[in-house]
Amino acid sequence: MSDATPPRRCVCPGSFDPVTEGHLDVIRRATALFDEVVVAVVHNPAKAGTFDLPTRLDLLRQSLVAQPGVRVEVVGDGLLVDFCRDVGAVAVVKGLRGGTDFAYELPMALMNRHLSGLETVFIAGEPSLTHVSSSLVKEVAFHGGDVTGLVPDVVLKALLAVRDRT
Ligand code: PNS
Repeated sequence: MSDATPPRRCVCPGSFDPVTEGHLDVIRRATALFDEVVVAVVHNPAKAGTFDLPTRLDLLRQSLVAQPGVRVEVVGDGLLVDFCRDVGAVAVVKGLRGGTDFAYELPMALMNRHLSGLETVFIAGEPSLTHVSSSLVKEVAFHGGDVTGLVPDVVLKALLAVRDRT
């Protein structure tokens, strides 16, 4: 019989449409707290988004290629708590940029705990990235602004490609 303790695993969920440096900061910092981090891309078929699911996954995987202990998976149309149970995660990790994020995240954290006892760990967002969100980088990039440094280079290229064909 093995006496190896199972890895402590967390889930970092989100739409990642697309992944930003803010997301990557939280994911990297989660690797210091947990043995394994599962980045869970929540797919909502009713919400088209800017990038399709395969593209979001590809951009995340390319951005995390040098990050050991991290894998990227899709959450289908079920509940996050069921996904967390299936992958053996003991917690959800989310970043907080400020009070607005907290107000949005707290009910979800409490609902997830109500549903299954699943805990949520909040990581204080890196102050230099407080203004970074997927929606804002898209808006700025699509109107010709420079979002270099706010998203990984692969995402920057993908944003410019969408901008140039619309
Ligand atoms: O990046 P987002 O879109 O703000 O992330 C929100 C997300 C995807 C984490 C949340 O909507 C979610 O967990 N969706 C999965 C379905 C679910 O479990 N909903 C109940 C949450 S209490």
